[in-house]
Amino acid sequence: MTSFLRPLAYRHRWIYDTVTAVSALSVGGVSRLRSLGVDALQSRLESGAAVLDLCCGSGEAAAPWLAAGFSVTGLDIAPRALDLAAVRQPELHLVEGLAEDPPLDAGSFAAVQLSVALHEFSRVERVQVLNSCLRLLQPGGWLVLVDLHPAGPWLQLPQRLFCALFETETATAMLEDDLVLQLNDTGFCGVRQELLAGQALQRITAQKPPSVQP
Ligand SMILES: C[S@@+](CC[C@H](N)C(=O)[O-])C[C@H]1O[C@@H](n2cnc3c(N)ncnc32)[C@H](O)[C@@H]1O
Repeated sequence: MTSFLRPLAYRHRWIYDTVTAVSALSVGGVSRLRSLGVDALQSRLESGAAVLDLCCGSGEAAAPWLAAGFSVTGLDIAPRALDLAAVRQPELHLVEGLAEDPPLDAGSFAAVQLSVALHEFSRVERVQVLNSCLRLLQPGGWLVLVDLHPAGPWLQLPQRLFCALFETETATAMLEDDLVLQLNDTGFCGVRQELLAGQALQRITAQKPPSVQP
């Protein structure tokens, strides 16, 4: 079940941006939320390295990577979001496609970011998306994933309300699953999870084993 607010938020950017701003308060604001990916990986990557922002939307979470000097590609399925990304982030190389089967060459990225996007996929699709990430990374490359996590006591109710109003059952399903286990099962190594925002958010970094060929 999806509430009427979700399609409305995707149609009217100001609703989407306001909801994002309010939910980001728990992590210290929107710019902190958007920088979680680059903050986690910047020191592990060579300057100017190729980075993929998978499910980039309108490019806000790609912006801190661009500002840090990385060469960033953004992929999304939604042409409307990509049009907005082209205006908001002109340096972003944009690709329209499916995250489950991205039209990109294997082993072409030093890092892949999935910023608040994995919860959009069903369990079956989630496996495909994580396999895509592994395929697209260079050996030794890094994945950073920022997404929902079951909240601690203080934020349990707001999180349930948020999911009921703006998310689909795929988000609820993801909250029941252990992403660390799933990343290990996919073939990633060095998987590290941090819980943020009263545990309502998780940031996970994981590496493609250096010896595995794309
Ligand atoms: C909640 S938004 C997050 C956008 C962005 N990553 C951010 O942090 O602001 C989820 C994005 O996933 C995209 N998306 C959903 N399903 C997709 C798919 N199968 N392939 C590629 N993108 C998809 C949507 O179009 C949307 O832009």
